[in-house]
Amino acid sequence: MKPGARTTNWIAVAPAAAFPPGTCRTLDVGLRPVAVFNVDGTYYAIEDICSHEYETLSDGSVEGCEIVCPRHAARFSLATGAALAPPAYEPIAVFPVRVADGVVQVGDDDVGMAGT
Ligand code: FES
Repeated sequence: MKPGARTTNWIAVAPAAAFPPGTCRTLDVGLRPVAVFNVDGTYYAIEDICSHEYETLSDGSVEGCEIVCPRHAARFSLATGAALAPPAYEPIAVFPVRVADGVVQVGDDDVGMAGT
């Protein structure tokens, strides 16, 4: 299923004009913290908690299309949530993102975790 195909609720993150490449926004989707990144004009939304220990990933650094956890330097794909480097082995959830009427929006249906 295409990411976002079953989304019924889209939550406004920020106007696209105020969300430039190289920046991140955070919000809660339901009870889950979510981080949205603009990487060279493409938006990605991930659960904002490392699967290794309870660390806020948006405090880490973005390298290419990967987020590096600030605590122990595990890496995750922003596109799929896959764990790419130890000490994290479990993926993180990712969420659909779209731009509608000039506003970046995230869907409230996480599209699961890589490999599940
Ligand atoms: S808490 Fe993220 S790598 Fe350990």
